[in-house]
Amino acid sequence: MISDRDFFVVEPAEGELLNSVFDSDTPLYLEIGSGKGEFISRYPIGHPGWNFIGMEMSEKRIINCLKKLSVEKNPNVRLIRKFADAGISELFRGASVSGVFIQHPDPWPKRKHHRRRLIQQDFLNSLAYILIPGAQVQVSTDHSGYAAWIVEEFLQNPHFTSLQDDPIQLHPNLDEHIVTWFEEEQRRHGYHPHFMLFERI
Ligand SMILES: C[S@@+](CC[C@H](N)C(=O)[O-])C[C@H]1O[C@@H](n2cnc3c(N)ncnc32)[C@H](O)[C@@H]1O
Repeated sequence: MISDRDFFVVEPAEGELLNSVFDSDTPLYLEIGSGKGEFISRYPIGHPGWNFIGMEMSEKRIINCLKKLSVEKNPNVRLIRKFADAGISELFRGASVSGVFIQHPDPWPKRKHHRRRLIQQDFLNSLAYILIPGAQVQVSTDHSGYAAWIVEEFLQNPHFTSLQDDPIQLHPNLDEHIVTWFEEEQRRHGYHPHFMLFERI
């Protein structure tokens, strides 16, 4: 019998593109940093006509995600254990991803660690390559310094624009916002998320 892990966790061969993990050509969405799996297990249920890949670097978190996923409820979800960076352009066909969700990327608050932040120009250029023009990128963080950094990086990049009047909002820009474990924890400690929504031009 196929275990849920075999169903959900994909391990593409060298040079194989992640677009081929689903048979169909339906719209493909990506979550980066799936954490304990609240978003990747719940949001796709409301979007059965779309496919989703959750990219998560930590094996422990992949296991957390697997505990929330079921083959019956989440046939349109796959996970990959991978560190997302500018190399993402080698994992997908150009202009093949319809949208990206990034909730609470690690803020790396110390100045000397800022270069480790996910959102920076080389990553955004690679993201722009894999995204279909018009695709949206939703980002949230409760770290106000990182929120300002994220907006600056996106708006400095020629391939993206903000879809919000105020690029940083204090309320979710999705009707079906999924409150993640990390968001809930941070809210309990008095830290409220900032929500950003960008479009691939
Ligand atoms: C602060 S947690 C937030 C998790 C989840 N999105 C949430 O809101 O609860 C950040 C998550 O992203 C993962 N992560 C951090 N950097 C990553 C990267 N470059 N590629 C893939 N996963 C990453 C971490 O392992 C962790 O699970």
